[in-house]
Amino acid sequence: MTAPLFSPSFRASLDQLFTWRRDVRHFRTEPVPEALLLRLLETACLAPSVGLSEPWRFVRVDSPVRRTAIRENFSRCNAEALTGHSGDNAQRYATLKLAGLDDAPHQIAVFCDTNPAQGRGLGRGTMPETTVWSAVMAIHTFWLAATAEGVGLGWVSILDPAEASRTLCMPPDWQFLAYLCVGYPAEQADTPELERRGWEQRNPARRQWINR
Ligand SMILES: Cc1cc2nc3c(=O)[nH]c(=O)nc-3n(C[C@H](O)[C@H](O)[C@H](O)COP(=O)(O)O)c2cc1C
Repeated sequence: MTAPLFSPSFRASLDQLFTWRRDVRHFRTEPVPEALLLRLLETACLAPSVGLSEPWRFVRVDSPVRRTAIRENFSRCNAEALTGHSGDNAQRYATLKLAGLDDAPHQIAVFCDTNPAQGRGLGRGTMPETTVWSAVMAIHTFWLAATAEGVGLGWVSILDPAEASRTLCMPPDWQFLAYLCVGYPAEQADTPELERRGWEQRNPARRQWINR
């Protein structure tokens, strides 16, 4: 099969996709069609992985009981995080919305199988953490594919991972990586919410070059 040529207009659109991908915390409540969610998962699974181990595990969380437990986990961890800030920072932190757990129609926990049979160990002997990196690449691929379809994703990490694993009854070898809120965004923006809220700013890319 001949590899496709990516036209200048495709590249311009791709640039826009990168620019408009956002971490979303404000969702509309209508569900995303199941067929589309499956397509996003299929695209995520095109991500590279060490030794072709495909160690990502996407766990749909639909049970109201489990969702409530995750919500409580988040509330506790977020309250604790607030105590780590003082003065202006604490005030500002308290006003941030750091998860869309109440309104996102879909919730997906992502785990990494840290000891997958698939891939037969290739490439991870010296750096076992490469399984985690592979799974994170799948999350990012899911994120971009979702953005292209007008679907928003918010990554929640303000959680106690051991408790989240227990809530979801996961095997001990599966490392909790992310809790994703997924749904149609209530608003669109080409800048991060944390930047718009004055919490932090992005740096010019050229500052990221380090020469040796
Ligand atoms: C590993 C990881 C964990 C994150 N955890 C949270 C989180 O717990 N709550 C939250 O509101 N955003 C979280 N974010 C989103 C970041 O705040 C966001 O990506 C960053 O501010 C840049 O904004 P953008 O993604 O819209 O460009 C997380 C992002 C990553 C990559």
